[in-house]
Amino acid sequence: MKFATKLMHRLGMEHPILLAPMAGASTPALVAAVSEAGGLGSLGAAMMSPEAIRSAIREIRTRTPRKFNVNLFTYRVPEREVEKAAAMQARIAPYIRQLGGNPERLPALAPLPDMGEQIKTVLAERPDVFSFTFGMPDRETLSAFKQIGTFVIGTATTVAEAKMLSEAGVDAVVAQGSEAGGHRGTFAVTAEEGLVGTMALTPLIIDAVKIPVIAAGGIMDGRGIAAALMLGASAAALGTAFLVCPENDVVHPIYRQRLLEGDRSTTVSRAYTGRFARWIKNRFVTEMADQPAAIPSYPHQIPLTAPLRQLAAERREPELFPMLAGQGFPLCREMPAGELVARLVREMRERLETVQPAPV
Ligand SMILES: Cc1cc2nc3c(=O)[nH]c(=O)nc-3n(C[C@H](O)[C@H](O)[C@H](O)COP(=O)(O)O)c2cc1C
Repeated sequence: MKFATKLMHRLGMEHPILLAPMAGASTPALVAAVSEAGGLGSLGAAMMSPEAIRSAIREIRTRTPRKFNVNLFTYRVPEREVEKAAAMQARIAPYIRQLGGNPERLPALAPLPDMGEQIKTVLAERPDVFSFTFGMPDRETLSAFKQIGTFVIGTATTVAEAKMLSEAGVDAVVAQGSEAGGHRGTFAVTAEEGLVGTMALTPLIIDAVKIPVIAAGGIMDGRGIAAALMLGASAAALGTAFLVCPENDVVHPIYRQRLLEGDRSTTVSRAYTGRFARWIKNRFVTEMADQPAAIPSYPHQIPLTAPLRQLAAERREPELFPMLAGQGFPLCREMPAGELVARLVREMRERLETVQPAPV
C-alpha cells in the first residue's frame, strides 16, 4: 500500500516519518541517515553555538542531498533569581561531593548560546525546513524564513497553542503529546494544561487548524505511526526511538543502557533545567520533587546543574545523570537509523493494510 500526504510531497519524504529534533542527543550522521532513508531528519541545534550549527548543517549536506529540518528554542529569558540560585547551589553541593567533586571550585562554564545569533546563522544557511519549540519566534524571524522559502514548523501542546501558531503563519504544527520525551513545548498555558496525551491532542488539533499536523509523543514503532495516520496526522515524529541508533554516539553509554534495559518509569520534572521535561526517573529527579518551587526558571537552572551532570557522566552514575526519554522508551530497538526507518515503514504498512484485532 502506497501512502502519501501533501506534507510528505512538500518535504520530499518517501515515508511519513520524522526524526524528532533532539538537542544534545542527535548527530549530523543520524539526521542524514533518516533523510537518506526517506524520512525527514531534524538537527536539534538549540544547545549549539552558531559556529557548531553552521558546521553541523554543512556536514549533513555532505552526507545527503535530501531535505532536513533545523530546530531551535524560542523563548524569553526570565530575570535571574539570585537568592533561589544560591539556595539551589547549596542544595546541589552534597551531590557534587558524593561524586568526588569540590563544590567550592567548579570549572567556569561556557554561557548558553545566544538565540538571536543562532537564528541568524540558521537563516544564513537557508534550510529547507526550520522548526521551533518553547514559544513563537517574533514576526520578523518568521517572515525572514518565509521569504527564503523555508518550510516552518511550530510545536503545540494544546489546541490554543496550535491556533496561535497557525494564525502566526507557520506551515505545519507538531502536536506534542504528554508521552513525549524531552522538554515540553508548552508556552501559552500552565504546565498541567499542556499535558494532553497524543491520542487526544492529535485529532483535537487537526480539527482546529487547516495546516498539516505532525503527531509526536510515545510513537515507537509502525503501530504507533499507523495510529497517528489513522487519527489524521500527516506524519509522525519519533525522538526516543532514535536515541539508541549507533549513529547517535553522543548518547552517553549509561543513558543508552537505561534506555535498553527498559525497566524504569519516566516522569515530568523541572529538576535539571528549570523547564518541565520528561526524564527516566532517577535519584536526582525523585529527590528534587520535594520542593519544586525552589528550582530556578529555565534556563537559569542549567548552569547550576551543569557540574553535577558533567561529574555524573565522568563517574558513570545514572542515578544523577539526566536521561530524557518518552514514555514508550522500553520499546527502543538498537539498530542503524536507516534500518530502523525501513522497519518502521514495514510495520506501518502491515498495520495500515489490515487493521489487526488484538490477539487476546
Ligand atoms: C533527548 C531529547 C531531546 C529533545 N530535544 C528537543 C529539541 O531540542 N527541540 C524540540 O523541539 N524537541 C525536543 N525534544 C522533543 C522531541 O522533538 C519530540 O517531541 C519527542 O521526542 C517525541 O516523543 P518521543 O520521544 O516519545 O518520540 C527532545 C526529546 C528528547 C527525547
